[in-house]
Amino acid sequence: MLGIETSCDETGVGIVRGTRLLSNTIASSMEEHARYGGVVPEVAARAHLEAMGPAIEAALAEASVRPDELDAIAVTSGPGLAGALMVGVGAAKAMAVALGKPLYAVNHLVGHVGADVLDAGGGPGHPVEVPTIALLVSGGHTSLLHVRDLTGDVELLGETIDDAAGEAFDKVARILGLPYPGGPQIDRAAAAGAPNAIRFPRGLSLPKDMAKHRYDFSFSGLKTAVARWVEQKTDAGEQLPVADVAASFREAVVDVLVTKAVNACLDRGVPRLLLGGGVVANARLREVAAERCAEAGIALRIPALSLCTDNGAMIAALAAQLIMAGHEPSTLDFGADSTLPV
Ligand code: KG4
Ligand code: ZN
Repeated sequence: MLGIETSCDETGVGIVRGTRLLSNTIASSMEEHARYGGVVPEVAARAHLEAMGPAIEAALAEASVRPDELDAIAVTSGPGLAGALMVGVGAAKAMAVALGKPLYAVNHLVGHVGADVLDAGGGPGHPVEVPTIALLVSGGHTSLLHVRDLTGDVELLGETIDDAAGEAFDKVARILGLPYPGGPQIDRAAAAGAPNAIRFPRGLSLPKDMAKHRYDFSFSGLKTAVARWVEQKTDAGEQLPVADVAASFREAVVDVLVTKAVNACLDRGVPRLLLGGGVVANARLREVAAERCAEAGIALRIPALSLCTDNGAMIAALAAQLIMAGHEPSTLDFGADSTLPV
């Protein structure tokens, strides 16, 4: 199975055989977005067009697979940036028609969960243990899922109502004068700071919010609080304690993410939590998730980082699971759907 992923700024093409990873090629347009401080949809779409052909060729070569040996093609049809998705969907349809292979359109978020069947080292892989709660955190999404069956029963419990977690890291990094992408920069700066130096707000965690937004997230208020705090210090002519601000901000994001994910596990009686998305690289998120899951008797799974960030192998892996569960291929009339529900 060859999988194509273009929902954001990564052109991902991966090849799997069942749960075995054969190749996972990624071309990112991150550097082109750096000077704008965030992903520019038009730039991403054009970069996908340029990267697609070489990425497909590289994935086939790395896996030592000829195009005619493929059983099927899979592609992310949403959610994501419309123009970016269209490039992947167009490429996948063209390949499927030209090679006469079945085509599977899959959901990007469920793909992140599907990544867990793969072993990044190319080992035999394993089924996703269900039921599981999945927390997906990246520059484009912050979603909490209840997965009962990877190929048929996935429920969206909540998501961000404004910025994604990674986006919040990127925006706060800019406030602190750190380069894009800001997540790794803040993570690094935070290592030398005190997480309780400044008490930043935990969005949507007050009792009044929890009734309606128990599993939703909000990071824009936190970002504004950091901006205001920094502005006050700067106006007063004081030196900015960058490490403390970074550590305190990181703590606020991680606290909310892990609290809500663990709550979901406890409320739903699901003793498993799976993490996915680029923010999983965050050292403090991994630490706090491990601590709180251990306390609550929840088994924590974190796939290898190369499978957590957006990639084509996770899309192929999910489609392979769909085939094995007896799902029919998609008909060619589907299109890119930027708000595709799970
Ligand atoms: O999944 P991903 O590679 O792709 C997109 O969302 O497109 O995630 C990238 C996001 C960026 O916002 C980046 O700042 C964030 O993940 N990120 C991190 C860390 N490493 C990457 N955020 C916090 N801590 C990190 N160590
Ligand atoms: Zn993603």
